[in-house]
Amino acid sequence: MTFAATILTLYPEMFPGPLGLSLAGRALGEGKWVCDPVQIRDFATDRHRSVDDTPAGGGAGMVMRADVLARAVDHAVDRQPGVPVLAMTPRGRPLTQARVRDLAAGPGAIILCGRFEGIDERLFEARPIEPVSIGDYILSGGEMAALVLLDACIRLLPGVMGAASSGDEESFESGLLEYPHYTRPAEWEGRTIPEVLRSGDHAKIEAWRTAMAETDTRLRRPDLWERHEGARVQSPSGARQQKKER
Ligand code: ADE
Repeated sequence: MTFAATILTLYPEMFPGPLGLSLAGRALGEGKWVCDPVQIRDFATDRHRSVDDTPAGGGAGMVMRADVLARAVDHAVDRQPGVPVLAMTPRGRPLTQARVRDLAAGPGAIILCGRFEGIDERLFEARPIEPVSIGDYILSGGEMAALVLLDACIRLLPGVMGAASSGDEESFESGLLEYPHYTRPAEWEGRTIPEVLRSGDHAKIEAWRTAMAETDTRLRRPDLWERHEGARVQSPSGARQQKKER
């Protein structure tokens, strides 16, 4: 199955961009995914091909018009019915590896890239569109966010990562950060590789990696750690138990 990405954008030249290189670029060449950028401006109706207007209530910047965006979305949905429609915006729900896996297992996505101050909210009321954020910072537009989302999906498509495993051991798949990595030289700037990794004792190595993943997650990502610990204290029946004081 080919994963089909339709991207609604004011900058179609930004696609496939970096996704035309490396792993994703090879997969694109092999037809494992297709990239179809669509110019939103083509759905404007006035002489100036306007896609934005001043914010109701006043304030800085411009807002993307619901009528123009709806025409672009409807056109994409007509051509690719049944795929999720996402809108990249800092007001969206944070993207997770679980959502990426879901998307990558499906037929593709229609991705609307926001620009300016934002998108007229009525678009989200009138069409089933999932707002997605890639993090708590502001980009100059949704295009970079769409590239990030697509990169995360494409590497999971069958046959794309090859021998580099299915990604099951990676950060977030277990709810923890991944353990730290080392390679040759055995000594660099006076620093050696942890002895256990050279022991050949696979059970010991496994235990060390788990301990490191837990420590690093607790220190660097207390939010993930909290969730991980919360999930662990659930009973087999699924009922929540009181977390022990430590
Ligand atoms: N557009 C601007 N900033 C963004 C973000 N953090 N995530 C998704 N889309 C965006």
